Amino acid sequence: MAVSADEFKQALGTLVSGVTVVTLNNAAGAPRGITVTSFTSLSLEPPLVLVCIDHRASVHDDFHVGGRFAINLLAAEQQSISNQFASSAPDRFAGIAHTLAPGGSPFIDGAMTSIECRCTAALEGGDHTIFVGEVECTRFNDAEPLLYGQGKYQRITRA
Ligand SMILES: Cc1cc2nc3c(=O)[nH]c(=O)nc-3n(C[C@H](O)[C@H](O)[C@H](O)COP(=O)(O)O)c2cc1C
Repeated sequence: MAVSADEFKQALGTLVSGVTVVTLNNAAGAPRGITVTSFTSLSLEPPLVLVCIDHRASVHDDFHVGGRFAINLLAAEQQSISNQFASSAPDRFAGIAHTLAPGGSPFIDGAMTSIECRCTAALEGGDHTIFVGEVECTRFNDAEPLLYGQGKYQRITRA
C-alpha cells in the first residue's frame, strides 16, 4: 500500500540538500529558470547529471533532448534568487545578473558552481520528467552553499 501524500512529504522533507536554479533559453531565445533541489550526479564516464521537473512547471516544455541547460548551485547569500525562481513572477530573470555559458545557457553570477549540459534524455518519473544532461562546461566561485530542508533554508555549520 502506498503512503499518503502527507507522509511522503514529511519523510522527504527531512532531507537537507543544496539549492539550484536550472536555467535555459526558450524557443524564442528568452532566458528561463526554475528553483530545483532534485539535482543529482549520475555518471562519471560519461559525465552525466540529472534534474527532475514537474510536468506542470511553466518551464517544463522549454527542455528538449539535444538542447542545453545549466544548473546553478546557489551560494548562501542567494536565498532571494531561490525565491524569485520558485515564484510565479512573469520575468524571473528581472534584476538577475548572468553571463552566457559557451552553449548559450545563462550562468547566474555569484552562484557557487554553474554547470552547462547538453540534454541527452528525458525519462518519465511519475508527475515529473527526469532530464539527463552531459556536462560540457563548469564555473566555480569561492562561496558557501545555500541549503534547503526541514521546511526552511539552512547554512552549513562545520562539525
Ligand atoms: C527549495 C525548492 C525546491 C524546489 N525543487 C523543485 C524541483 O526539484 N523540481 C520542480 O519541478 N520544482 C521544484 N520546486 C518548485 C519550482 O521552483 C517552482 O516553484 C514551480 O515550478 C513554479 O511553477 P511555475 O513555473 O509553473 O510557476 C522547488 C521549489 C523550492 C522553493
